[in-house]
Amino acid sequence: MTDFSNIKGVLFDLNGIITDSWLYHSKSWRQVAESIGIQWSSKLEEAIKGRDRIDSLNAILKSGGMENQYSEQEKEALADKKNDIYQQMLEIMNPNDILPGIHDFLAELRQNDYQMIIASASANAPKEIKKLDLEDYFPLIVDLKEIKHNKPAPDVYLKAAEMLNLDVDQCIGIDDGIVGVESINAANVVSIGIGDPKVLSMADINFTSTKDLTLTNIRQNWSK
Ligand code: BG6
Ligand code: MG
Repeated sequence: MTDFSNIKGVLFDLNGIITDSWLYHSKSWRQVAESIGIQWSSKLEEAIKGRDRIDSLNAILKSGGMENQYSEQEKEALADKKNDIYQQMLEIMNPNDILPGIHDFLAELRQNDYQMIIASASANAPKEIKKLDLEDYFPLIVDLKEIKHNKPAPDVYLKAAEMLNLDVDQCIGIDDGIVGVESINAANVVSIGIGDPKVLSMADINFTSTKDLTLTNIRQNWSK
């Protein structure tokens, strides 16, 4: 693992790290899944966390054995339906929805001259950063149109490092989803997994909560 002193940039997942919009994603997918007779489960929820819109829908259809029952057009309609429900939920999002510890961590990073960028699988990321009033910290958000494959492929984290003009070994990536941590690892960036360490055992460093994100904690947990 690269030396902590080499680190110059932090690549952030959005949902589940900066804000809890993952809850809105799961609620809106659940409504769509149940509307077509697919049973929701915590296993399905974990499998789609961090996947992009169409990959999530495909995983949901597969879990119900319905992967071949919908045309591309029908699938698009289902994905649009989910996004409509999601966007309605987003209306009430505001800076109080920023997860615990994140504001302090962002301020600490800025004070210590680290660069930062959003590496989210969501097309709604710019809208959410605006609603959370975090544009000042995150003028940079990876544009999904610029990448070929979404998480768990490395593209989004590779693009994020490139946009900061940094090598991958100068960056840390932070994500709360299995596919997100896999994406960070595939990019050869040091990964921090936030959540259940058993679920995210593939991460280089594990914290159970965003509250644990401080430079001191990261340094202390480096390559143990
Ligand atoms: C990720 C979420 O951040 O964004 C996923 O964790 C979601 O659950 C994905 O499917 C895509 O989001 P959107 O807003 O583009 O539908
Ligand atoms: Mg996430």
